[in-house]
Amino acid sequence: MCGIVGCVLDKKVAPTLLESIKTLEYRGYDSVGLSTVTDKINIKKGKGKIHEVDEKLDLADLDGNTGIAHVRWATHGNPTTKNAHPHNDCKNEISIVHNGIIGNYKDLKQDLINEGHVFKSDTDTEVISHLIEKYMAKNENLLEAVQKTVKELKGSYALAVISTKEPDKIIGARNESPLIVGVSEHGNYLASDATAILKETKKVIYLDNKELIELTKDNVKIMDYDLNPLEKKIETITWTAEMAEKGGYDHFMLKEIHEEPMVIKESLSEESKIKSIVRKFKNFNRICFVACGTSYHASLVGEYLIESLIGKPTDVILASEFDYFKKTLDDHTLVIFITQSGETADTLEAIKIANEKSETLAIVNVVGSSITREADHVIYTRAGPEIGVAATKTYLSQLICIYLLVAYLSDENEELLNKLYEISELSEQLLSKEEQIREIAKNYTDVNDFFYIGRGFNYPTALEGALKLKEITYIHGEGYAAGELKHGPLALIDENIPVVGIVPPGPSRNDTYTNLKEIESRGGDIIYLGANNDPSILEKENKLLFDPRIDETLAPLLYIIDLQLLAYYISIERGIDPDKPKNLAKSVTVK
Ligand code: M6R
Repeated sequence: MCGIVGCVLDKKVAPTLLESIKTLEYRGYDSVGLSTVTDKINIKKGKGKIHEVDEKLDLADLDGNTGIAHVRWATHGNPTTKNAHPHNDCKNEISIVHNGIIGNYKDLKQDLINEGHVFKSDTDTEVISHLIEKYMAKNENLLEAVQKTVKELKGSYALAVISTKEPDKIIGARNESPLIVGVSEHGNYLASDATAILKETKKVIYLDNKELIELTKDNVKIMDYDLNPLEKKIETITWTAEMAEKGGYDHFMLKEIHEEPMVIKESLSEESKIKSIVRKFKNFNRICFVACGTSYHASLVGEYLIESLIGKPTDVILASEFDYFKKTLDDHTLVIFITQSGETADTLEAIKIANEKSETLAIVNVVGSSITREADHVIYTRAGPEIGVAATKTYLSQLICIYLLVAYLSDENEELLNKLYEISELSEQLLSKEEQIREIAKNYTDVNDFFYIGRGFNYPTALEGALKLKEITYIHGEGYAAGELKHGPLALIDENIPVVGIVPPGPSRNDTYTNLKEIESRGGDIIYLGANNDPSILEKENKLLFDPRIDETLAPLLYIIDLQLLAYYISIERGIDPDKPKNLAKSVTVK
């Protein structure tokens, strides 16, 4: 959570830092801050979203060619100006930004207070600037002081540090939180992820855990924690700066939904790579998916597909609960990790444990992210950068990769493959329903609860539809397996609780429809999602219709688009910014 940037350039850095940190705002929007170094540390920071703080403080108005910046998603210490990064030492000669959590900060803080250091914030981060101060007071240079400091830290961190003593450099360090280096002819950069520097350079170096960086305008030195120099490869990013811009849409979320037909095509282009990866798998008799949030819902679709089409025992485990299941792993289990960011702390912890016993595969969107260095095999989902906090296009791309995987795990299932290419064509038509969905949304701006029901492959669709609603509208939404409703939740149903009924054509259609009748006869207000040749659905007033070729096996891929749009327009009608829902951040890099 939190995003950091640093750069040393041949010009004033604050305008570049401000632009870069804006592209990382999806990582947290509790507060923002910048510091640069001249003969002193120049600092501006405040509570709130970047544009709010910038209006008050004019953040780009700082001198200096070396600087760092931060957006915060608060963990230790409330979201206040006092707790906003950067954090300085006692003498304001050192300034740091940090993403991660310092687990042993309480003990370190107490020791530093006993030694006379005065703390100004409630954060775990501030111990870092005081530790560096302590080591620099012992005549260590900035690099050595950071090296000594990181050896004392327990926890996760991506750090960038500047000092008036060595004003032309930034020292960075990475452990368990993402950090990349960008190189250009105008200077060099550090950032939490590539989106922050896409406008400046395409040349990046991916850092690994326990690496230190010394960055000047003309040089990048990467070292291990004993200061031994490391040879690292410079890679070229394929994402463009435009991909991380709104491109005329009101919100990133809407732009990203509109990109879905293209994303389906891009992800299908991974077919031959997926085919060759499947050939490399060792013998396994069980599959286990591990993921969080939306990626967990994509995994559930995977479970239904694999168990019903291939008959292989499959489990789906929430990454945060993985510890309780780890003893069931063995060398005949294939463990598949699904993650958009590749940086989710729980998922990363789980893969490290799984690697000890089982073969692992990561299905991930962000190239070079931490999970790509842990997994035995990697499939990229090719969705491009996703900035909106609510996952939309990346869910679709995860699903396409899972369907392709299932097709090749079941001996090149031609029928499934052909259907997937057909879906790609049908997805274009879907967005034409946008105005209709917007009108439907207007009727549901004041409700308190929603149910989403679906069966089989579309039970996860119900869960995902409800998650989208919750996170960007703040309305309580609950996804339920259609047949389960009468085992309890039916007691809640009345005209005040709308129900989204997902009834695509296929073997489960009649049972799900019967469940919806049970709701209807108790006064429930239903929005039906079904085929445009289903007579019972056609006669309903409140409905969203789909091509009948989208049967229940394929519906997870396309019905969800309407549910994303429904949540988006309810959010807009309620005056919420769907890109920045309260309390949330895009990548959850803390446990
Ligand atoms: O980057 P990951 O896919 O590992 O992230 C997992 C969840 O944090 C993520 O899907 C979250 O639930 C989204 N905000 C949902 O829209």
